[in-house]
Amino acid sequence: MKIINLNAIQILDSRANPTLQVDVILEDGSKGSFQVPSGASTGIHEAHELRDENMNFYHGKSVMRAVENVLNLREKLLNQDFTQESLDSFLIATDGSQNKEILGANAILGISVAFAKACAMHFSLPIYEYLRRVAFKINMENKKVRNLEDIHLFANIINGGLHSGNKLNIQEFMIVPTNGSPIEKIRAISEIYHELKSIIEEKYGKNDTAVGDEGGFAPSISKAEEALNLIVEAVKKANYEGLVTIALDSAASDFYDADLKLYEVEPGLKLDYKKLSAYYSDLVAKYPIVSIEDPFAEDDFEGFAYFMNNLPTTIVQNPFNKDSKIIVVGDDLLVTNPSRISMAMEKNLCSSLLLKINQIGTLSESLKAFSMANGAGWHTIVSHRSGETSDDFISDLAVGLSSSIKIGAPARGERVAKYNKLLNIYSKK
Ligand code: PGA
Ligand code: ZN
Repeated sequence: MKIINLNAIQILDSRANPTLQVDVILEDGSKGSFQVPSGASTGIHEAHELRDENMNFYHGKSVMRAVENVLNLREKLLNQDFTQESLDSFLIATDGSQNKEILGANAILGISVAFAKACAMHFSLPIYEYLRRVAFKINMENKKVRNLEDIHLFANIINGGLHSGNKLNIQEFMIVPTNGSPIEKIRAISEIYHELKSIIEEKYGKNDTAVGDEGGFAPSISKAEEALNLIVEAVKKANYEGLVTIALDSAASDFYDADLKLYEVEPGLKLDYKKLSAYYSDLVAKYPIVSIEDPFAEDDFEGFAYFMNNLPTTIVQNPFNKDSKIIVVGDDLLVTNPSRISMAMEKNLCSSLLLKINQIGTLSESLKAFSMANGAGWHTIVSHRSGETSDDFISDLAVGLSSSIKIGAPARGERVAKYNKLLNIYSKK
């Protein structure tokens, strides 16, 4: 496939910070455009997000150097024949650094995904179908196969940590509907979200129903149990009792004191990894929790390994694990990086991959991360970032890979875009 035009501009993300949009046009006129997301509770091992660091522009966060880097690649990329893999390898080699700090992972990812979208158009395939064929090496020309699998949705409806102004240190309290089609699951999420809003309004007043970065509510509570009680009540009120499980993302790197080796999981409550494991086990014994993401800090392998050897049993059937132990999801731990994933597999640190394409910086490496995790029998969850745009690519990626997806609450336009893409894919037209 030959690229005949490549462009990049600076746009804004959902937190009013600059990010990149990259546009690609192929020889036959097929077009692809991608708007790059950005995290807040980023893992220290993530690929490098290149920002200008000039305090006179957007508080140092402008991305004009990354834009320039894309434009400067025109000379090398235009009119050359590429596949997804050869393009991504070329970008990695041209950058040449360990973590893509020369060109910027944001610049590289923009080109990588814009190219994939243009290729989907070239083959007249929906993006999810194109991605499925690339991931599973299925013949592009055979247009007949259409095998959409149902996917699970992780909906973050109470926000804490770095995504909110409240005192909840655990970052995300998510609901995961277990029954029905994706369309029915989205309906459940929406109905529970509304019940939760009215419960928070009743308990804490109208002023407390403002939302955090991922669209979940951010009431002024500080204890995990308060958040979980609100969710259980909302699920009950919406008549989904027994049909919805709960997932947490601790993002524990953000409340870890590495010198003291203590986790401040709630204000004033500082625990070592063994006590924190017991804290999680208590929650799992009381609430229908089936999954915990980043329960320990990204390099606290001792904590992860200990927890994996002492996993609590869920009080409900776990849709992701037959033996009813919770699943442990690696986000900051794995950073979608194949070498971190194989290290975690060797050491038995977790049992599920959170897949964020901008943590690694190319689509090919993301697909490699997926296939490693999938091949090892891990659960996989394609994920948004807390800083997003209205780009809906990750919905296609999740459907294409038949993977779970984590896209926040069904509120805030940049999250709704992903929900609506799923509704478009799964609705009969
Ligand atoms: P981030 O958070 O996008 O701010 O890194 C999302 C997550 O931790 O899953
Ligand atoms: Zn996370």
